[in-house]
Amino acid sequence: MASGSHSWHCCLLLAFFLVFSGADGLSTAYYATSCPSLQQVVRATVSSAIQAERRIGASLIRLFFHDCFVQACDASILLDDVPETGFVGEKTAGPNVNSVRGYEVIDRIKANVEDVCPGVVSCADIVALAARDSTALLGGPNWAVPLGRLDSTTASLAEANRDLPGPDSDLGTLIARFGAKGLSPRDMTALSGSHTVGFSQCTNFRAHIYNDTDIDPAFAALRRRTCPAAAGNGDSNLAPLDVQTQNAFDNAYYHNLLVRRGLLHSDQVLFNGGSQDALVQQYSSNPSLFAADFAKAMVKMGNLCGAGGEVRCDCRVVNDS
Ligand code: HEM
Ligand SMILES: *[C@@H]1O[C@H](CO)[C@@H](O)[C@H](O)[C@H]1NC(C)=O
Repeated sequence: MASGSHSWHCCLLLAFFLVFSGADGLSTAYYATSCPSLQQVVRATVSSAIQAERRIGASLIRLFFHDCFVQACDASILLDDVPETGFVGEKTAGPNVNSVRGYEVIDRIKANVEDVCPGVVSCADIVALAARDSTALLGGPNWAVPLGRLDSTTASLAEANRDLPGPDSDLGTLIARFGAKGLSPRDMTALSGSHTVGFSQCTNFRAHIYNDTDIDPAFAALRRRTCPAAAGNGDSNLAPLDVQTQNAFDNAYYHNLLVRRGLLHSDQVLFNGGSQDALVQQYSSNPSLFAADFAKAMVKMGNLCGAGGEVRCDCRVVNDS
């Protein structure tokens, strides 16, 4: 099988590259000589995935967030459970299960990268590049991604459940969760702007559209049509996070908040009389300010680095020791 031969080449070269991966700190030129075509290969693979299904771009942006918030940006989220050994990954954590998407696209990118540079590029760097490329291809900012992350040999279901914020979070909780990762309230508000693309399931916004008062009644009525009040009914029905321009990575998310059309409770708390109101107003009227801050915050989130590790051969499993 093709994946078998990828793993073989990958592992043959692994020892060689470990010698050169000792540098701490990331660099945009990290693979400049070891894998000069990396960025083209990732961009092309993400592009064809988005052409097949536009939502996958949003899913890949979110995958990066859910990777970085647990342990670090170390591809821990990609590890499959292994019942035989008792290894438990993060995929069944509450915020991830039946929700995080894009694992197959990461596999495809990894296979394409292995074809040109076997054993060189970490899965964690691929996730970071895929998030950047998705943002740019959906119409958002482009930026240079610092690279050189290593893939973890561990995952943490408990940390995924503890650290990832839920859609019912209030502003204080959001600020605290991001603060725990070294990200400022401003970073948090900018990063939340990625809810300009993608979808949420009814179960994640039901309470907001039925019980919250900080919501435009017409918008609540629209969303109630496909999200029944009773738990268990239509739980997985989808609605776009951005009611205005669901397909474009733009700043309409912030305009929605101004008119109380945030889909999640955790969206609307960024504009309901609290500390982020002024910034939401600025982002809604200044798209280039949002674009610049978003790119900066993605780089900052991406700098959350783990304690070392390996370049995985298969993004779903740790290498054989
Ligand atoms: C501020 C705290 C955040 C909360 C509470 C939150 C929560 C959520 C929830 C509940 C969903 C819908 C999931 C589902 O129904 O399956 C979602 C989707 C999404 N989130 Fe967040 N999120 C937050 C921050 C972020 C950040 C920082 C990013 C990336 C930088 C992000 C990117 C996305 C994207 C792109 C989607 C759509 C995914 C898709 O359509 O597959 N979110 N988020
Ligand atoms: C709304 O609040 C009431 C009273 O707390 C609760 O019984 C009900 O389940 C809530 N509905 C939703 C959809 O969250």
